[in-house]
Amino acid sequence: MNVKDKVILITGGAGGLGSALAKLLSEKGADVYILDLDQQRGREITEEIIKNRGKAHFNKIDLTSEGEWETTVKEIVDKTGRIDVLINNAGINIRKPIEEMSIDEWQKMMLVNTGSIFLGCKYTIPVMRKQGGGAIINTSSVCGLIGHKYTTEAYTASKGAVTLFTKAVASRYAKDGIRCNSIHPSTIYSPYAEVLLKDPQRRSERLGEVPLGRLATFDDVAYGVLYLASDEASFINGISLPIDGGTTCY
Ligand SMILES: NC(=O)c1ccc[n+]([C@@H]2O[C@H](COP(=O)([O-])OP(=O)(O)OC[C@H]3O[C@@H](n4cnc5c(N)ncnc54)[C@H](O)[C@@H]3O)[C@@H](O)[C@H]2O)c1
Repeated sequence: MNVKDKVILITGGAGGLGSALAKLLSEKGADVYILDLDQQRGREITEEIIKNRGKAHFNKIDLTSEGEWETTVKEIVDKTGRIDVLINNAGINIRKPIEEMSIDEWQKMMLVNTGSIFLGCKYTIPVMRKQGGGAIINTSSVCGLIGHKYTTEAYTASKGAVTLFTKAVASRYAKDGIRCNSIHPSTIYSPYAEVLLKDPQRRSERLGEVPLGRLATFDDVAYGVLYLASDEASFINGISLPIDGGTTCY
């Protein structure tokens, strides 16, 4: 799958999934830009990639700030002349049910989980249009496809918005050569999931819902993104790709 020399922006690139994406895509020859608030982790991952002879850069950005998006995209384009792929991956989850969640917490989740994607598209689509095309990949979740009973309503609502925002972008901007797809991972094995699995009831709930009987790994998800970013996916537009071991089949 060819992503060689593609300029790829990864939001939340310092996090669990984002760093796995940055590592895999750089191994395949892409020039990756890690966009994140977490300067320390972002720099560590960038240095690790460069040490392994990959191409990587770190840009500190608050993804919910329109001004910072404008400046960051300009800085990158001044350097590279193009943006081939935008991976809108950053997301947060304030784990509170409706009765316990404040409207400020609701708005914060919406702003990070959907607002950052809107802003990312707003500032990169004109660049992609000018160069004749590009690819956008949005990280949703299984919760963007189903009403998931173990997840909060606000997270589910934000990820559902990502699913249809993706399809709207896919249909409007295809004429400019821009493809837009979303991915829908089930729970990924991580330090948070490790704690969850220690509780026998939560363990049987979480593993019991996955027909393949295990959690996802960051690599399972990263290979799906690699495909969507690659030249081989040139006719794939507007899909919602579950990477969930079959969780959303029933
Ligand atoms: N981990 C899972 O089980 C799972 C499952 C399905 C979907 N997802 C989705 O995958 C994506 C990545 O999840 P993760 O597990 O890697 O999370 P993570 O918390 O490890 O990483 C998220 C990254 O986003 C960054 N970030 C958050 N808000 C920001 C802001 N305003 N500006 C700049 N950076 C910001 C954080 O600093 C962090 O580095 C999210 O969208 C999440 O909803 C995760």
